[in-house]
Amino acid sequence: AAAEKGGFDSFMEKEIHEQPAAVRDTLMGRFDEKGNLTLDELKIDDSILRSIDKIIVVACGTAAYAGQVARYAIEHWCRIPTEVELAHEFRYRDPIVNEKTLVVSLSQSGETMDTLMAVRHAQEQGAKVVSICNTTGSTLPRESDAALYTHAGPEIAVASTKAFLSQIAAAYLLGLYLAQLRGNMYKDEIQSVLKELQAMPEKIQAILDNEQQIKDLGIEMKDSDSVLFLGRHVGFPVALEGALKLKEIAYIHAEGFAAGELKHGPIALVEEGQPIFVVVPSPRGRDSLHSKVVSNIQEVRARGAVTIVIAEEGDSTVEPYSNHIIRYPQCPTLLQPLLATVPLQIFACALSGAKGLDVDQPRNLAKSVTVE
Ligand code: G6P
Repeated sequence: AAAEKGGFDSFMEKEIHEQPAAVRDTLMGRFDEKGNLTLDELKIDDSILRSIDKIIVVACGTAAYAGQVARYAIEHWCRIPTEVELAHEFRYRDPIVNEKTLVVSLSQSGETMDTLMAVRHAQEQGAKVVSICNTTGSTLPRESDAALYTHAGPEIAVASTKAFLSQIAAAYLLGLYLAQLRGNMYKDEIQSVLKELQAMPEKIQAILDNEQQIKDLGIEMKDSDSVLFLGRHVGFPVALEGALKLKEIAYIHAEGFAAGELKHGPIALVEEGQPIFVVVPSPRGRDSLHSKVVSNIQEVRARGAVTIVIAEEGDSTVEPYSNHIIRYPQCPTLLQPLLATVPLQIFACALSGAKGLDVDQPRNLAKSVTVE
């Protein structure tokens, strides 16, 4: 088993380190050198894809957070209203679904029963379904109108890492493809996003190369009772995913919040010594988003929080308010989750290991949940 883990202490740690390859392989062979996306697997008529007026992403767990990230990109690029729904809630809200709805399922295993039932329900209403999946020939892609595979390789650890980043990459390809088909973006805009996407594996590697700082933090914080995570825009689902990882494998109470929501409630939780991770958007991104998040860091720091700030390289504005700063390489705002998630995975993994827990097989959880 030690050999299978490739020298790492756990499969999770190994899979965290496989993320540059997972993203690279998921992007590979999906566009020509002219920058045209060629999603051959997307076997749904162009005419149908042009007529879609709504997208609904269905998924569970980590995959649902990948869906939340993807929504920002898909709506921005394609101008198609996009919803993300937990698969097990989908049917029960009597969703408005018809022939003009594209349902996108996200699933590492392709066997999650909740997600499968959501897909079947959507198909009964006439929707077309694309499944983004990591497992060739599994039930979800087989039952869908089209499958778009992530190429993360087998994921053993129960807590998903490389599948998550690959799901984001694949969902982004789908978004760009729809934008290309429907003429929402100029060709050079699409090409420039593709170029940035292709640069991501190297940037993920840069974070891995600096992992010791984050591991030390995980070890140092192993006795925490509660950890909070804040983010905004695409950083919000990243915060949710950071909290989920900690719950799943370290059994620590953790919650992710939209940073703007702090003042509407969660700030009441903040007391002396409360650890709070803050995912900070690029200062070069959308106006005022960055400065609003920096104010949030100030607010919680003033109330005694220990702030662990995930900020872009070169962003010095956060320095006065950070107890710890973790850096990620510069990248466009929409691609930031591919980087900002990685330290949160490393943190949870190191902390769980420091507590002496079974990182790969957390209690009460299964890798793939094949019952409703
Ligand atoms: C289980 C796992 C989670 C995973 C979720 C969805 O609950 O414990 O880690 O995110 O299923 O799995 P899927 O295979 O559909 O991505």
